[in-house]
Amino acid sequence: MARTIRICKSHVRRAALVWFLSALLFFLLFRMAVQSSSQNDRFTDSESPSLNSERSKLYDKMARDLDEHGAVFLRGGETSQSLSISDIFSLKDGAVTPILKAANPPVRANVLYMSPEFSVPISQAVRDVFLPYFDKAIWFQNSSLYHFSMFHASHHIEPVPATNDEIEAEANAVKAVAETLCPLKIILDRVVLTSTGVLVGCWQVISGTDPMVIRLKLRDSLPRAPQKQLYDPALLHTSFARLLGHPKFSPEELQKHPDELQFFHELVTCLNNKVRGFEAIVSELWYVEEFDVLALALNGRIMARRFHMGC
Ligand SMILES: *[C@@H]1O[C@H](CO)[C@@H](O)[C@H](O)[C@H]1NC(C)=O
Repeated sequence: MARTIRICKSHVRRAALVWFLSALLFFLLFRMAVQSSSQNDRFTDSESPSLNSERSKLYDKMARDLDEHGAVFLRGGETSQSLSISDIFSLKDGAVTPILKAANPPVRANVLYMSPEFSVPISQAVRDVFLPYFDKAIWFQNSSLYHFSMFHASHHIEPVPATNDEIEAEANAVKAVAETLCPLKIILDRVVLTSTGVLVGCWQVISGTDPMVIRLKLRDSLPRAPQKQLYDPALLHTSFARLLGHPKFSPEELQKHPDELQFFHELVTCLNNKVRGFEAIVSELWYVEEFDVLALALNGRIMARRFHMGC
C-alpha cells in the first residue's frame, strides 16, 4: 500500500513536472511571440520613440564632428561621399561653379522629395544667415531639389550597371514600394555643420512610415543594389548648403570673431534659432538617375520618376 502510494505520488509528481514544464514552455514561447511582435511594431509604429532616439544619437555625433575634426573643408577636405571639395567646385573669378563629371554608369538614387512649400522658407533662412559672410564661398542646395537620400540602386563607390529594361523594372519596384508608404510628417530637429563644410538639416519623424522601414522595403525590392549603402538606415537628413572657404569679415568684425570655429558655431546657432522645430510633410518618393556625379546636389543632369506615397 505504502509502495503504491509512493508510486502514485511519484507519478503525480512526474505529471505535475510535465505540466509545469509545458506551461513554462508555453509561457516562454508566448513571451517571445509578444516581444517579436512588439519589435515589428517598433518598425511600423509611426511615432517610434526608439528610432527617434537612435536618430538623436546620430545627430549628436554629427554635431560633434566639427569640433572633433576641425574645419576640414578649409583644407580642401572630402565630402560625405569621399569626393574632395576641390574636385566638385571651382572658384572662378570669385564665383562658385560646380564641376560636373559624368557618372558612368549613372547613379540610381531613391530619395524622399521635399516640396518648395517647405524648402523655400528654409532655403531663405539659410541664405539670410550665411550669405553675408560667405558671399561666393558657399554653394546653396537648389531649393527645388531638397531631398532625403534613402537608398541607392547603384552608387559611384559600388556601381551596378543596368540595362534600360532593368532600370524600368527597378522604377516599377520602387513605385510599388511607394504605394505602401504613408506620407511623413517630420520636424527639423537641428541643423549641423559637418567638418566637411556641409550644412545639414537633421529631422525627426512625427508620423508616417519611418525611413528605417522605407530603406528595408527598398532593399527587399532592389535585390541587386549595393550591399553597402552610403548612410545610416535611421538617418533623415537633407543638405542645405556647402561652405567652401573662410568667412569674410570687415576689419572690426575680425576683432569680434578671432576664433573661426567659434564663429561657425554662432552662425549655426543663429540658423537653428530660426528653423529648429520647422515641420514639413513629405509625400513623394523619387527614383532618380543621376547622369553627373552628385547631380542632385550640384544641379547636374537628372532623370526623376516621381511616385506618390499611397497609404
Ligand atoms: C534648380 O532646379 C530646378 C529644377 O530642376 C531648375 O529648373 C533650376 O534651373 C535650378 N536652379 C539653378 C540655379 O540651377
